Amino acid sequence: MEAVKSILFVCLGNICRSPLAEGIARDIIRQYNLDVKVDSAGTSGWHIDEMPCAGSRNIAKKHGLNIDDLRGRRVSIYADDDFDLLIALDSNNQRDLISLGFEKSKIKKMGDFGLKGADIPDPYTYKDEEGFERIYQMLKICVHQLLSIHYPVVESHQNLQQK
Ligand code: 4NP
Repeated sequence: MEAVKSILFVCLGNICRSPLAEGIARDIIRQYNLDVKVDSAGTSGWHIDEMPCAGSRNIAKKHGLNIDDLRGRRVSIYADDDFDLLIALDSNNQRDLISLGFEKSKIKKMGDFGLKGADIPDPYTYKDEEGFERIYQMLKICVHQLLSIHYPVVESHQNLQQK
């Protein structure tokens, strides 16, 4: 498999789902000392320069991650075309990335990694802490699986659960 050196997580606002995915990924990268760059962005420009939403920041903290440094930005075919992989959080994000002109083979859906292609739902469907916890658990499964495919030293979530 060709080496994946950079991954961009993409949702709609870049304030709830994709920054949380980025936070989970960079923690694994740090833990295993991987040589891979991760970032996140939104298909909309509605939350440029904003911090991640409180629900995502809080659930991250509950799990020992701090994502307060991340800021919203809009995905761009010009600035982001060098990423090896673009991970869309749901089908709409995936469709929008295709429309923007990114190479189709570089676009994957988060749910394809361990969740049978499920969309990671947006925050309007899970406003409370329990909802953010569910999203965190979904992302943890997918990000572990995604990184374990490209970096076998990373244990897949399945292996972690079997221990
Ligand atoms: P995200 O969630 O795509 O996970 O960052 C959203 C945040 C804000 C909006 C939509 C989704 N919004 O419509 O402002």
